[in-house]
Amino acid sequence: MKLSSANINVMVKACRKASKTIIRDFGEIENLQVSLKGPGDFVTASDKQVEKILIDELQKARPNYSILSEEIGEINNDLSFRWIIDPIDGTANFLHGIPHFAISLGLEHNKEIICGIIYDPIKDEMFTAEKGNGSYVNNKRMRVSSRSKLEDCIIFTGGPKMGSKDQDISLKEYNTFSSKVLTPIRKLGSASLDMAYVAAGRCDGFWQRNLKYWDIAAGIILVKEAGGFVTDFDGENHYIQNKTILVTNSKISEEMIEVLK
Ligand code: IPD
Ligand code: CA
Ligand code: CA
Repeated sequence: MKLSSANINVMVKACRKASKTIIRDFGEIENLQVSLKGPGDFVTASDKQVEKILIDELQKARPNYSILSEEIGEINNDLSFRWIIDPIDGTANFLHGIPHFAISLGLEHNKEIICGIIYDPIKDEMFTAEKGNGSYVNNKRMRVSSRSKLEDCIIFTGGPKMGSKDQDISLKEYNTFSSKVLTPIRKLGSASLDMAYVAAGRCDGFWQRNLKYWDIAAGIILVKEAGGFVTDFDGENHYIQNKTILVTNSKISEEMIEVLK
């Protein structure tokens, strides 16, 4: 069993507290207030309440850290440390009673992600990673898969949001991918868990266009610390600026880049 840093402990505690609300609300899904935030993008009272619990807990422990969180946006304090929060990643699943969603929490230091946690409250799986200290699921070390042929792999993707400006290009990429290789492709509806599953070796690669920083922040360090690669669709490091993310077990990157072209 690994020793966790003080920051990871703070993040785990905040997730565990917030997850009580998620689990309760998931059980009463029909009573939730739902308002339309944009096409295909619902925000529930739960998203907001879970975000509040997370922020309260994180601020109690680290009053000076800045925050970027999906529902409330930015809180600027000490800019060298910043929490990146997605209170519920997989809201559409949550709203439909599908038990596949997560809290995603990242911590940046000088613009680099140094800690990440993705917590699936229904399966009680806590994925954690810290720079230089490896990736873990419920305190058990994780490694990416070793499959090197795309045809033996399972690949995840997501989106596009209906009506979004990247709808056509995303659909084209999906069609190209599925017509060029016979690899099974899955859309499970939670980008953070997609990345956590690559880190755990459950699937071998993931690609998606136009994700937000809070969807991927924690996943980035989980995958890197598990031995995987995180790049843009050209195999470069500009996945945040270019808004294309390709995550692999390291062995299938070249083949995936070729197929996505
Ligand atoms: C969404 C999920 C989904 C992805 C969408 C995201 P949300 O996040 O990660 O898998 O395809 O692009 O917006 O809205 O449930 O936090
Ligand atoms: Ca999200
Ligand atoms: Ca969300």
